[in-house]
Amino acid sequence: STTTALIVAAGRGERAGLGTPKQYATIAGKAMIAHAVDALAAHPAIDRIQIVIGAGQSGLLAEALGDRTMPTPVIGGAERRDSVIAGLEAVPAGRVLIHDAARPFLSVAVIDRLLAALDTHDGAVPVLPVVDTIAAADGLLGDVRPRDGLVRVQTPQGFDRDAILAAHRAWAGGPATDDAQVARAAGLAVATVEGDTMLDKLTHTADFAAAEARLAAAMR
Ligand code: C5P
Repeated sequence: STTTALIVAAGRGERAGLGTPKQYATIAGKAMIAHAVDALAAHPAIDRIQIVIGAGQSGLLAEALGDRTMPTPVIGGAERRDSVIAGLEAVPAGRVLIHDAARPFLSVAVIDRLLAALDTHDGAVPVLPVVDTIAAADGLLGDVRPRDGLVRVQTPQGFDRDAILAAHRAWAGGPATDDAQVARAAGLAVATVEGDTMLDKLTHTADFAAAEARLAAAMR
């Protein structure tokens, strides 16, 4: 069956304060979204990559992709979930890995773990344990929350395309920050596999400089 990677890149990316949407910003000489595309294209099990962009971003995407050939991008919506649904409607049945463009450094090993888990589960997500102290705060520090058994959930998140699309259509909650919570609400069993700190989302301006430094160190 077909395995598609769906990259959602339709966010405004304003918290990065870069002027241009962050997914088109350059990291180590390459647009953030091109890093994600190349990582997914390098995996032999991935047959197709579908990108979801914001209205008016096709010029930015074309510039970022250069001579890479891709299916025509889909236009996303106001919330991340709207963008995911638009993308899912454009991809064939089979397995889908839904990925945030804001996580450009994706390893073959993480994709291998996700695909292996999908052989036995409805869904699979990369996670890392919470190592910091977690607490409420409102200007002043509030109560500490137990971190035992908590994880940070990353992307790509893998599912059967028809099942995750049905789950999204049935979702009655508010804005969802990922797809696995939508899958769980629909009764799907989502496996956790080991994530990667390199997959952490780049959100704020400082994240970009830190990512460049880590990449430079990794290439030395
Ligand atoms: O805003 P946040 O960092 O949570 O976005 C996560 C991912 O979802 C990003 O890659 C962003 O481009 C994408 N997104 C989207 N459509 C939206 C909002 C976010 O494709 N309406």
